[in-house]
Amino acid sequence: MKLSIEQPRLISEIETIAGFSDAESPAVTRVVFTANDLKARAWLTGRCQEAGLEVRNDAIGNIFARWVGSERSAPAIGTGSHIDAIPNAGKYDGVVGVLGGLEAIRALQRSKFKPRHSIELLVFTSEEPTRFGIGCLGSRLLSGVLSPEAAAILTDKDSETVDAVRRRAGFSGELCNVRLPVDYYKAFVELHIEQGPLLERERIPLGIVTRIAAPASLCIIIEGGGGHAGGVLMPDRRDALCAASEIILAVEKAARDTGAIDTVATVGICEVFPGAVNSIPSRVRLSLDIRDTNLSRRNEVLRAIERAAQNVAGKRSVGIESQPINADAPADCASRVKEALSDACGEHHVPFLSMVSRAYHDSLFMSHVTATGMLFIPCREGFSHRPDEYASPEDIARGALVLAEALAKLAA
Ligand code: HGY
Ligand code: MN
Ligand code: MN
Repeated sequence: MKLSIEQPRLISEIETIAGFSDAESPAVTRVVFTANDLKARAWLTGRCQEAGLEVRNDAIGNIFARWVGSERSAPAIGTGSHIDAIPNAGKYDGVVGVLGGLEAIRALQRSKFKPRHSIELLVFTSEEPTRFGIGCLGSRLLSGVLSPEAAAILTDKDSETVDAVRRRAGFSGELCNVRLPVDYYKAFVELHIEQGPLLERERIPLGIVTRIAAPASLCIIIEGGGGHAGGVLMPDRRDALCAASEIILAVEKAARDTGAIDTVATVGICEVFPGAVNSIPSRVRLSLDIRDTNLSRRNEVLRAIERAAQNVAGKRSVGIESQPINADAPADCASRVKEALSDACGEHHVPFLSMVSRAYHDSLFMSHVTATGMLFIPCREGFSHRPDEYASPEDIARGALVLAEALAKLAA
């Protein structure tokens, strides 16, 4: 089978979809169900239809673009990723897996390959937690990890529910029908930028993921006394932001204290109320992101943070409330998919590195419903979730080529 990737078109498509953004180029902001997200979805659907794929959406807006195989009712081979982007992000996170997956399918079509199992491109709704606070909303519903009832009532910063927003975006139907039937897929492979520096540093062109780290997120609300910045003397204060500051440093300490390089913790959002320069902060809402490839170690960090927060509460006489959002297990990638990827690398004489994924992905949840694997391409200096995120045309095309070869193996 002679496979070739149309690199110029693939790169031009990545540039086009980057234009559907609420940020000035080179930054990309494309939050789920915003006008630009819907424009990007419509544009992408058109490209899939041009490739002769059968396109449908489910009730949460996951897009399925199927190249029907000779055994139409057999479990399909899935590939894909997400196109939503956090504020001030780059143009490659998720998009490489969607457009690279589409190009992999087109390359197989051009090679006259005939799949026995259908090959289906997936675009997952809301992989990023930006709007509704939890990541991988679409794949959590597909895999049954999140119930339709719990998903429907999640709200955004304007207190709009998932249910209301999805319906306004044109996605009707019942969320209880999103969950995939058993054996819907035979395997799933996601192409993604590494979002770390290893491949570039080791000068290895591809990564085959062995394990996806276990993400957890929570909010901690700190309630203090507030008051006039001039009238309340220091001994009488219960400053919620000073308490939050101690907690933020305790979060960093808890991650460092495990001594394991795979433990990471971040306070990505700090909301201060009332937010006036001459008013002592009376309430602070912290949003935390804690990850590790080792589940028990990650959970020990969560407990250490809870203990530290309670200590600060006692010392500073402030109220503390923790609101867990998610605490997921790590995922091991399936041997069958790793073998298809390593064989594909071999056939194209591409060296690869077996590695963990420190970022989470929809594959974390697809692993609940089918044999799942991931293929990484390098990104410059490991930068991601930043406007200077960059992957070279050659690396993107190489990823799409090896993905195409692996999909053919799995779909034969
Ligand atoms: O945060 C993550 O790991 C992913 O990029 N949403
Ligand atoms: Mn991301
Ligand atoms: Mn991503």
